[in-house]
Amino acid sequence: MTAPLATRVHLNTAGAGLLSSHAVDTMIDVLHAERRDGAYETELRLDGELNEQLYGELARLVGAAPDDIAYFDSATRAYVSTLPLLKPGPGERVILSPYEYAGNLLSLLALRERHGFTIDVIPLDAEGDLDLEWLEKNVDDDVSFVSVPHVPSGCGIVNPVEEIGRILRGTDTFYVVDGCQSVGQLPVDVSALGCDLFTGAGRKFLCGPRGTGFAAVSERLRAALERGSRDLHVSAVDARLAVEDRVHTARTLELAERSTAVAMGFLTTLREAPDPAGVDNASRAAELTALLTAVPGIEVINPGRRQAGIVTFRHDRVSPAELTAALGECGITVWTITGAHTPQYMLDRGVTTAVRASVHWYTTTAQIEALAAALRRITS
Ligand SMILES: Cc1ncc(COP(=O)(O)O)c(C=O)c1O
Repeated sequence: MTAPLATRVHLNTAGAGLLSSHAVDTMIDVLHAERRDGAYETELRLDGELNEQLYGELARLVGAAPDDIAYFDSATRAYVSTLPLLKPGPGERVILSPYEYAGNLLSLLALRERHGFTIDVIPLDAEGDLDLEWLEKNVDDDVSFVSVPHVPSGCGIVNPVEEIGRILRGTDTFYVVDGCQSVGQLPVDVSALGCDLFTGAGRKFLCGPRGTGFAAVSERLRAALERGSRDLHVSAVDARLAVEDRVHTARTLELAERSTAVAMGFLTTLREAPDPAGVDNASRAAELTALLTAVPGIEVINPGRRQAGIVTFRHDRVSPAELTAALGECGITVWTITGAHTPQYMLDRGVTTAVRASVHWYTTTAQIEALAAALRRITS
């Protein structure tokens, strides 16, 4: 695959990856077709792509059955359209990690307020890895679900989703993995993980368009979810107000309306995405971490023994916002993260803001060296 056209050094794939020219052209072509032929008519013409191939590609990507896939406009939408329908009760527990994304936390806390379950948080060991012995001891019949991000928003740790899957295998506890920052840069196989809900965004390491996300929802979880409201692509209501459910796949969790252009751009992205097994962001991140650690005053925030393509850091004198702005002037795009987006881990350690540099298959060693050299100049 050819590197996307970029005039800057793009080190913010964890925000949004770079679209390929092909994906952009696909979206523009759809918009022209909608203007020329009508939007509904264009959608009808693309029925096979929109209603089969998109689901087939997502299923292939994460090792799920096509019927388990629901398409959404963001990863948060995927999470909040699914998990709250599980409704754990007052006697039940939910287990999270300290790396949980704030958007997911907000929906879980609202759910706890209504249903009164308890939230337990997996402790970390000295390296910042999840204490799996604790998890093993604490998973019991009263645990409704365990939810962990594969890779969090604020730092590059790769959580041990395979080991957690092994611990939960054979239990009645549902297993939720937020793959927003992992899908596209790490291989994912939800059936091997035994994962009941996997959520992802299209715009990050998959490099798809904004406004795309998806969930893989196991049949076991779907059967346990309360019936939510359904839209017209899956259900019908007659003159006597009798409801008929026509579709029984994970698509029952979606709303019907979506942008055809964006969905087609996403499908193009999925078709041409490099095999994540060959995307070695861990090496790129290690290269970057080594260079940053050698810059005087830089502290790299990288908990855990295993890392992916996110490297977060701050300087003892120059603020993250100033660093981001100064790097921007050097043609290098990084992002100032807020600790409140990964509140339990970051805020607990006094990290309110930091700089996040994220690498991907299109990041070169020269670009990584350029970032380190620019940081030296800016902070000297
Ligand atoms: C780990 C993680 N989960 C979920 C989300 C939410 O994704 P979205 O903005 O597509 O809802 C993000 C966004 O940065 C994230 O980093």
